[in-house]
Amino acid sequence: MSESTIALINKIQDAFTTIGGNESLDLPQIITVGEQSSGKSSVLEHIVQRDFLPRGSGIVTRRPLVLQLVTIRNNPDAYDYAEFLHVPHQKFYDFSEVRAEIANETDRVAGTNKGISRTPIHLKIYSKNVLNLTIIDLPGLTKNTNTRNNIGDQPHDIDVQIKQLVLDYISKTNSIILAVTPANADLANSDSLKLARKVDPEGKRTMGVLTKLDLMDAGTDALDVLTGKSFPLKLGFIGVVNRSQQDIITNKPLEEAVKSEQLFFQTHPSYRGISQRCGSVYLSKQLNQILINHIREKLPDLRSKLSSLIGQTQHELSQYGDPAFAGSIHRGSLILKLLTMFSTEFISSIDGTSSSIST
Ligand code: GDP
Ligand code: NA
Ligand code: MG
Repeated sequence: MSESTIALINKIQDAFTTIGGNESLDLPQIITVGEQSSGKSSVLEHIVQRDFLPRGSGIVTRRPLVLQLVTIRNNPDAYDYAEFLHVPHQKFYDFSEVRAEIANETDRVAGTNKGISRTPIHLKIYSKNVLNLTIIDLPGLTKNTNTRNNIGDQPHDIDVQIKQLVLDYISKTNSIILAVTPANADLANSDSLKLARKVDPEGKRTMGVLTKLDLMDAGTDALDVLTGKSFPLKLGFIGVVNRSQQDIITNKPLEEAVKSEQLFFQTHPSYRGISQRCGSVYLSKQLNQILINHIREKLPDLRSKLSSLIGQTQHELSQYGDPAFAGSIHRGSLILKLLTMFSTEFISSIDGTSSSIST
């Protein structure tokens, strides 16, 4: 299966989102989960190699962000750009504008009172430096805010609301949970790992991301965690070093940050033996591979769903002539077109036979 298959899947996912309707392919999604300040945003910015997420104190991510990364190929001169589903036909080349748009769009729907909304923001980033991936960023887990100084009229049960939102996303059995945990805190108390274990008790679809390895106490390391000896997860733990607050204040470029991260692992007495399997570049490669494996596993399911969707669509098309069907014919033919691409390019590329789904 090739990279382009993931691009195609993204297209189909998009079509369903744009068109609406009840049909869904239930495709796999990578969900980031972590406590506030665990380094979630930093991990995403390292993967994208761009500053594009709003920052600040308190709960900054207040709507799910569906982030689709699309590789720009065969064009070394192309600039990176972003697009929002809610801002059609506009390409954002300035990533500080992307950040501002996320913040505005968050306020517009979730309000300015620091509440959360379940309605996602859909953002696509096109870049030569990304692998094709779809990652969903969710609000950070917080401790009970009743005991804290709330900001303005923030809902008093915001912690419960966020936990429920996260649970709803990670309960889907085809989601892959990216559980972000800082290495300078006790792993046993990690809320993201606890929550992941609730819905994935055998640790089959959870990947641990250990941030802030540079902030561990002198003389301690996380080698046992990173080599899977202390906490069993089938997809393993990957260690990363993101930009520190100081790096952010001094505007350290992400390109440089990724280089320092690699150097950190290559020269660290405990990690240099596993440095090939550490860092954000390795993390995004692994995520891409996991996504491909996951799709391959789900293939028989997808295939029968596709087959019945095509059947339904053909039935709708056969009603042509009835004006009441005009809208659904348009919708149906678009889906059919994409599914045809899907079944020929994707299905046959995997099982090596020509598609048995006729269109
Ligand atoms: P989020 O709330 O989970 O999205 O966390 P952020 O990505 O905003 O990070 C919170 C703070 O931790 C910021 O000041 C980051 O600079 C800092 N931070 C995140 N990851 C690391 C890391 O690996 N090392 C260091 N030193 N600081 C980090
Ligand atoms: Na966490
Ligand atoms: Mg954040």
